[in-house]
Amino acid sequence: MPPSPRRKTRIAPADAESIAAAAAALRAGGLVAMPSDTVYGLAADATSEAAVAAIYAAKGRPVFNPLIAHVADQPSAEREAIFDENAKKLARAFWPGPLTIVAPVAASCRVSLLARAGLDSLALRAPAHPIARALIEAAGVPLAAPSANRSGRVSPTRAEHVAADLDGRIDWILDAGPTPLGLESTIVACLGGTPRLLRPGAIARERIEAELGLALANDAPQGSDSAPIAPGLLKSHYAPRAALRLAARQATSEEAALDFAGALAASPARVRLDLSPTGDLDEAAANLFAHLRALDATGAPTIAVAPIPECGPGAAITDRLRRAAAPRDGPP
Ligand code: TXA
Ligand code: MG
Repeated sequence: MPPSPRRKTRIAPADAESIAAAAAALRAGGLVAMPSDTVYGLAADATSEAAVAAIYAAKGRPVFNPLIAHVADQPSAEREAIFDENAKKLARAFWPGPLTIVAPVAASCRVSLLARAGLDSLALRAPAHPIARALIEAAGVPLAAPSANRSGRVSPTRAEHVAADLDGRIDWILDAGPTPLGLESTIVACLGGTPRLLRPGAIARERIEAELGLALANDAPQGSDSAPIAPGLLKSHYAPRAALRLAARQATSEEAALDFAGALAASPARVRLDLSPTGDLDEAAANLFAHLRALDATGAPTIAVAPIPECGPGAAITDRLRRAAAPRDGPP
């Protein structure tokens, strides 16, 4: 992949003026980091091959890993992809919000082949964040937007995280403070047959199953990294520099501690951050990526992670932690 050209990155509070300027940059093929309800996304005009190519270059993302197209609402989504009854039901129940629906591409689809990584399906989401919604409306096209981090690294929940990864590689960062949910969207494929959970995320599986009145199928087993169904299948992802030790009952004085509900409070860890002192899993989800980044920045060789219950949002939290702990192919 060619190196990403150097760009002047403007970081601004997300007000009417900066949104209008960022939307103009998007229409001209530029790259804009925008807040969403889940994490910050790196947006570009999804209909432009060149703009989408610039996303892959800025992130260092493998081009076989397709992007989510962000739209305003269900009618806009159904111009791009064919929604079956399950997809319609999910969009009605959870949009705008942190659910991504993968559906067969429609004949009227304008999203570039590169954004879809050549697939005949498309991932679509209508985010709930007012700034993301304003930007989609002002740009007037679907916005391709992966999380605004270098590929394989921890997703950004604050504008500072985006700047740390992408300053000099993108045109705008719209700063609206910490993102409310802190975990990426749940991805469900509605491609005929039983809908499939491709990535656990901000909406718990149980809520989706209750809405559909059926049990979701699971994603294909961890397999080849070369052609993932959802490259959530990439085993090593969300990787901090430090190694992670999961389900730790103790943290040593060498280690940093990522705690939950005070389980590691009595350990001699060099630094300890608690995802939620009261054991609230929604709070833990919102803090996960920021705490991982902060502990990584201490230079500790290992981060000991307290046990986290797998119910509700805990399933997505433990999914991200397992990926962060997975063996890496090479240097980050
Ligand atoms: O919350 C989120 O989903 C954030 C915000 C910015 O919207 N976005 C995000 O994008 O997490 P990204 O690119 O980091 O993750 C999108 C995931 C990838 O694992 C990708 O492989 C999968 O969605 N995906 C995209 N299109 C797909 C498709 N047609 N079929 C299966 N998986 C797809
Ligand atoms: Mg990502």
